[in-house]
Amino acid sequence: MPLPFAPGPRPRLPWTNLLALRKDSLGFLTALHRDYGDLVHFRLGPGHFHLVNHPDLNREVLVVQAKKVRKGLGLQRAKLLLGEGLLTSEDEAHLRQRRMMQPAFHHRKIATYADQMVRHTQALSQSWRNGETYDLSHEMMTVTLAIVAEALFGSDVSGESDEIGEALTTVIGAFNALTNPFAQLLLKFPLPYTRRIEAAIRRLNETIYRVIRERREKGTEEGDLLGMLLAVQDEEGDGSRFSDAQVRDEAMTLFLAGHETTANALTWTFHLLSQHPEVEARFHAELAEVLQGRPPTFEDVPRLKYTEMLFAEAMRLRPPVWAFGRQALQDFELGGYLIKQDSLLILSPWVMHHDPRWWPEPDRFDPLRFSPEQKAGRNKFTYFPFSHGPRNCIGEPFAWMEGALILATLGQAWRLERVPEHPVVLDPLFTLRPKHGLKMVARARS
Ligand code: HEM
Repeated sequence: MPLPFAPGPRPRLPWTNLLALRKDSLGFLTALHRDYGDLVHFRLGPGHFHLVNHPDLNREVLVVQAKKVRKGLGLQRAKLLLGEGLLTSEDEAHLRQRRMMQPAFHHRKIATYADQMVRHTQALSQSWRNGETYDLSHEMMTVTLAIVAEALFGSDVSGESDEIGEALTTVIGAFNALTNPFAQLLLKFPLPYTRRIEAAIRRLNETIYRVIRERREKGTEEGDLLGMLLAVQDEEGDGSRFSDAQVRDEAMTLFLAGHETTANALTWTFHLLSQHPEVEARFHAELAEVLQGRPPTFEDVPRLKYTEMLFAEAMRLRPPVWAFGRQALQDFELGGYLIKQDSLLILSPWVMHHDPRWWPEPDRFDPLRFSPEQKAGRNKFTYFPFSHGPRNCIGEPFAWMEGALILATLGQAWRLERVPEHPVVLDPLFTLRPKHGLKMVARARS
């Protein structure tokens, strides 16, 4: 007997689902799961979509049957910006790149970035004034951009960071539009590639290729990520190195993937802290006990246990990547149902992280959910801000360390208070950000 499609809404008018999605993506996905269960088949215009929302099915798609899918259309389209970088490449090319880049993200290697992270955060902290209002979203974007720029290029681009920041902001706008898992339906394609976006890409390319050229001429190996990309050889494969174009694609990918996600995670963390004084007090107590007033270091990160827990819980409630897509390369079976070739699978950390079966009282902010005891009793596929399996986030260790160090550095000096009249609205683009920014008042801690 042929496999059936999973249950799902069958509206009479073809655009009903699309309109609902457009109005409220998070609400639409949440309702699909509530009304139809763990695997939902739905149409958006002509396309077949599936919402996958059970840890076992999640594991099937991300690990067990990972070879039967590839990245969703959004990321396929992002190749226009990112070329064949790690985020967008597939198959053998992806395996080779992952193999070559993985060592750069090992725990020991990322230790070298800890001091830079603290230094950039201290500069931000020193620029703040007591009682002033800041858009935290903007502040976090600035500091995480400075951090990833230095991790990638060392000090080679520090003089141009404003200009690069501006070019990147333009490119990120395009990236966000491209990579939303429903992008092709939410936007009119082909994308209106304005001259501004093209100019921004050209500007970034010029900088990256210039730095590559200078480095190749100098012949020295710097300790940053670019140095690694230029030097690494595919030792398990044919011993080849990355071409200049490949180095450019990887650098652009790390630049883009490496800061907006972390910035949003931190913005939401500070917002949640401001609403939960008991959590904030415990966070401050940990900072006082572990750091005794000195700046945090790499060695402190594993000791800042509560800080890590609250960052993890913030990414549960507000997952920066709220949904991502996979496209079926062939017909296959999932949970007893048919996944048709070319249809799109949507995996949503937002929906899973708010499912009361795995997260009782899902809207409650409770960092203790990430205590070692509670973590040990939970299926790891119920929590996936960084995804799982062969295509999980390569920057995950970098992001955990960066989160802890930024929270600790700012938390020692400042409390951030909400501005009650400022509207806080979730805006699910590629990342989940606050639609109107996030205004907060900085209060110096005595
Ligand atoms: C809180 C911060 C971060 C979050 C929530 C996050 C989340 C994710 C997720 C969900 C994916 C999988 C996307 C998919 O399969 O479609 C991913 C992939 C990736 N991330 Fe991150 N990320 C974060 C920080 C970083 C950082 C700091 C870097 C680099 C410095 C980075 C680089 C990448 C790259 C290169 C990939 C592609 C990996 C591959 O396909 O092999 N990310 N990230």
